[in-house]
Amino acid sequence: MLVDQGNKVAEQELDLAPLDEMLDEFAEEHGALIPIMQRTQGIYGYLPQAALRRISERTGAPLSQLYGVATFYAQFSLKPKGRHTVDLCDGTACHVRGMPQIVTALENDLGVKAGDTTEDGRVTLQVVFCLGSCALAPVAVIDGQIVGRLSPQKAVQLVRKLD
Ligand code: FES
Repeated sequence: MLVDQGNKVAEQELDLAPLDEMLDEFAEEHGALIPIMQRTQGIYGYLPQAALRRISERTGAPLSQLYGVATFYAQFSLKPKGRHTVDLCDGTACHVRGMPQIVTALENDLGVKAGDTTEDGRVTLQVVFCLGSCALAPVAVIDGQIVGRLSPQKAVQLVRKLD
């Protein structure tokens, strides 16, 4: 797995004590990988490599299995998230009402591809599928708040306002 240099430095400094404490709670439980990974993401905000290695050592689960779980479930992230999260819905209703143009406008304005975080750590841009608010399509969730009837211009304006 490729990681950038800054990420490597952060990984070396990772404090594994809270992770070890949490793993102690699961010492008697087998097959609790998903709750363990959810708690780990709760501690660090994402799943650092060093944490996954420690989970593998302590549970006996192969590292490849942990990466498989981490990449299969959208709730898990292998990269640190930005201060703000922008989830753009590209489900059917949002797609036909113009989400692809909104994704492109934000990618161009932020200089990142969907799925990535801006270099300054300000915004993580993600594409998700059906947020359950199709009547408001096209829809985004910005820092947990649903925003509907977006246009490329409106989306860019809203995201520029995030500090
Ligand atoms: S398709 Fe976007 S909210 Fe349902």
